[in-house]
Amino acid sequence: MDKKKIVLTGDRPTGPLHLGHYVGSLINRVHLQDTAQQFIMIADAQALTDNADNPEKIKQNIIEVALDYLSVGIDPNKSVIFIQSMVPQLFELTMYYLNLVSWNRLKHNPTVKAEITQRGFGETVPAGFMIYPISQAADITAFKADIVPVGEDQLPMLEQTSEIVRKFNRTYQCDVLVEPKVMASKLMRLPGTDGKAKMSKSLNNAIFLSEPFESLSKKVKRMYTDPNHLKVEDPGKVEGNPVFTYLDAFATDKEKLEEMKAHYQRGGLGDSVVKKYLLEVLEDFIAPIRTERARYAQDKEYVYRILKEHSEKAAAIAQQTLDEVKRAMGIDYFLEKVNI
Ligand code: TRP
Repeated sequence: MDKKKIVLTGDRPTGPLHLGHYVGSLINRVHLQDTAQQFIMIADAQALTDNADNPEKIKQNIIEVALDYLSVGIDPNKSVIFIQSMVPQLFELTMYYLNLVSWNRLKHNPTVKAEITQRGFGETVPAGFMIYPISQAADITAFKADIVPVGEDQLPMLEQTSEIVRKFNRTYQCDVLVEPKVMASKLMRLPGTDGKAKMSKSLNNAIFLSEPFESLSKKVKRMYTDPNHLKVEDPGKVEGNPVFTYLDAFATDKEKLEEMKAHYQRGGLGDSVVKKYLLEVLEDFIAPIRTERARYAQDKEYVYRILKEHSEKAAAIAQQTLDEVKRAMGIDYFLEKVNI
C-alpha cells in the first residue's frame, strides 16, 4: 500500500473563522483527514509577527480557532491539531534556513509586500514579519509535507519553501527535505457580504461559523446584491451577486435555487425574498456547528488537552527532521564527539 500523503495547513489565530474559511479550506480538510496524514497548525508565532503588542488576542483566538475546527468536523483522532509555538524545533529550523535565502529575495515576496502595504508598516515593518515566509518553510518541511492546500495568496510561500528545500539539499548534498506540492484549489473563494472579492474579518464583511442567529439575520439583510435591481419587476443579475454566490455554496436544494435564479433574472423576484431564503439556508448550515461549538466550549479543558497532546506529537516529528537537518549540515556536534 502506498504511504499516506502528508498534508500540512495552518491558520493564524487572529479571529474566529468564517464561512470563507469553510468553503476555501475547512471542508477540504474534513475530507482529506480520511485519506491523508493531516497536520493542522495554529500559527500563533506567525500571528505574533504583526501582533507583538497584543499576545492576549492571539492567545484567546487559539481556543476560538480550535473550537471552530472541532465544530466543523475536524476529528482529533484523524488530524493532528497543534500550536506552532509549542513546537520550538520549527524556530531552530528557521534559523538555519534564514542563511539560505537572500534579503533581496525576501523583500520581493508579493504576499509579504501586499501585507506590508495593508498594515501600513512602511519602513517600520518588524524583522520577524519580513522573515515569516522562511518560518513557514520550516512549518512545512518539519513534517515533510507532500501537499499544502492553500489559497492563491499563499503561493509565494510555497515557492519560497521549494527554493529552500532545493538549496538545502544541494548545499548539504542530501535529500533530507521534501519539496511540497500545492494542491490546486478546486475550491471557491467566497466574497464578502459587501460584494468585495474576499471575505475577511478585517474588512468587516464576514459571517462567522459561530455567528448567532440575530446577527446572522442582520448581516444577510444588509448584504450587497445587484445594485441595478431597484424594483421587484426589474430583471436582476445573478453573476457577481454575493447572495446567489452564497446560495451556490450552501443551498442543498439545487432545483429550487435554479428556479430562483431564473425568476430573478427574468424580473419579479425581490431581494428580500432571496435573502429570506439565504437566511434559512445559512441558519440550517450554521445551527449544527453552533451547537457543536457550544458543546466543546463547555469543556475547554478537553480542547486544551488535545492541543497539548497533539503539539507534543508534532514536536517529536519535527525533532526527527531537525536531527536529520543537523546531521546533514554536520553540526550534530555531540553525536560526532562519540567517535573521537
Ligand atoms: N500564512 C498562512 C496564512 O496566513 C498560515 C500558515 C502558517 C500556513 N504556516 C503555514 C499555511 C504552513 C500553510 C502551511 O493563512
